[in-house]
Amino acid sequence: MSIVVLISGNGSNLQAMIDQQAAGKLHGRIALVISNNGDAYGLNRAEDAGIETLCLDHRQFDSREGYDEALRQAIDNAGADLVVLAGFMRILTPEFVNHYAGRMLNVHPSLLPKYKGLNTHARALEAGDDEHGASVHFVTPELDGGPVVIQAKVPIFTDDTADELASRVQVQERSMYPLVVAWYCQGRLKMDNNKAYLDGQEL
Ligand code: GRF
Repeated sequence: MSIVVLISGNGSNLQAMIDQQAAGKLHGRIALVISNNGDAYGLNRAEDAGIETLCLDHRQFDSREGYDEALRQAIDNAGADLVVLAGFMRILTPEFVNHYAGRMLNVHPSLLPKYKGLNTHARALEAGDDEHGASVHFVTPELDGGPVVIQAKVPIFTDDTADELASRVQVQERSMYPLVVAWYCQGRLKMDNNKAYLDGQEL
């Protein structure tokens, strides 16, 4: 299976997938990494691993539709079977999302359906929650609303800062996201009718 990974920044989740691929456990090949931001450190990670990269700067486009169309062409030209959003900080048009229905995954730093959108760590702290986490889900047109595949929980400690909490959550993201990608590449994970299935069992 051919995978295209979209990033905007550090790319630690991308790195976890690169490592999983190097270990022969991704069951797919990362064909291309695309960033909307030329400074994204994740582009260096991809280059170091010999993976093709592309910077598609959203500031060069007049409209979201125009940007997403260029993105779609780049992904489809790479022959992608699966699109992996790994810290891609852009909202995608419904047309784009529907084109990849059942073929696009995202990791979101909260225990969905809690805290869709931004600043999830600060919001969990502000709410006085005693646990937080991350979710890997299929992408549907509803922002952070697609069916959840897997979640990982972490404790919140009384003196936590948002950054400390984010680091604790990201450790979990890096361990579960490559596993989910591997399930998909093995044909074990599907989305049907807005529901996620692993080995035929609804999740
Ligand atoms: C992750 O915490 C992810 O949940 C969020 O953005 C962050 C990306 O981190 N959507 P990285 O670029 O993979 O290091």
